[in-house]
Amino acid sequence: MENVLTVKNLKTYYPVNKGPNKFVKALDDLSFSIKKNQTIGIVGESGCGKSTLAKTLMGLEKRTGGEIYFGDKSFDDISSKERYGNIQMVFQDPLDSLNPRKKAWEIIADPLLINSNVSKDEALKKAKELMELVGLRPEGAHKYPHMFSGGQRQRLGIARALILNPKVLILDEPVSALDVSIQAQILNLLKDLQKKMGLSYIFISHDLSVVNYIADEILVMYLGKVSEYGPAEKVFKAPQHPYTKTLLKSAHISNNDEIKNFPKLKDAELPSPLNPPNGCSFHTRCPLATEECEKGLPNLDNKDGVQVRCILS
Ligand SMILES: Nc1ncnc2c1ncn2[C@@H]1O[C@H](COP(=O)(O)OP(=O)(O)O)[C@@H](O)[C@H]1O
Ligand SMILES: [Mg+2]
Repeated sequence: MENVLTVKNLKTYYPVNKGPNKFVKALDDLSFSIKKNQTIGIVGESGCGKSTLAKTLMGLEKRTGGEIYFGDKSFDDISSKERYGNIQMVFQDPLDSLNPRKKAWEIIADPLLINSNVSKDEALKKAKELMELVGLRPEGAHKYPHMFSGGQRQRLGIARALILNPKVLILDEPVSALDVSIQAQILNLLKDLQKKMGLSYIFISHDLSVVNYIADEILVMYLGKVSEYGPAEKVFKAPQHPYTKTLLKSAHISNNDEIKNFPKLKDAELPSPLNPPNGCSFHTRCPLATEECEKGLPNLDNKDGVQVRCILS
């Protein structure tokens, strides 16, 4: 099956005022792809570059290098209008991302009103259809965001993201601000919508237990680089990178004794992506690191159908 989205050697660097040629390498050589009906989970600690990936794919942040393709078309060869039609985003905090002065239907219909010349009546009708699709009562179309609960607001955000019939949804920590019981409802809704509409999801989360529930593939990032990337089942059952093992251990979702007993991280802080450590960027915190790990950046090798960047695994 054809890839819906392909990312090749993507780099997004932020210039900083600390002198010439100083950059925060928020994304450094990231490659992955997704197919129809597929979800890739992007996982890593705060600051590892997850939101930069979302913004770069949305065209909100300019990439420094690499290629992005929708189907077989390069990102550079499609208009921003076509891009918005194909790829939409759902944000973490619906209250932050929904305009408080707009009614529910206006929020949902906004992308449609901007991108086409539908009448107000048509837009209202379409918005109500979307409300039903995401499990909201269309009678609420004239309410304001603060009149909805947190979970309902996230449904509004999802309805808005779907109104242009996109192929890809980027979900940046979409359930992190919600209670656990509500999280499950939203995740189930996302699964249903994926099946119904043939969507591809880029599901960003720091929470591996959430990703475990929804992702077909997992990409673990550390300081802007891929640590481990492969089928979710393999990565969860038999993680190979020490960083993945650490994340799984702290998520308390693995029955694997090796993971449960995996040694603690060294006490070092998360390094700044402005000055990443030489060699393997994880070596300053890795409990298994040897002198060899300080010498050069390990290659991303294919090990048992999973890409792993570690000389020890
Ligand atoms: N506009 C910006 N200018 C400079 N540095 C930035 C900017 N946005 C993000 N960063 C830095 O890039 C890195 C990745 O940030 P981000 O993509 O927000 O990570 P995450 O979403 O995983 O927490 C961080 O070190 C962050 O401080
Ligand atoms: Mg973020």
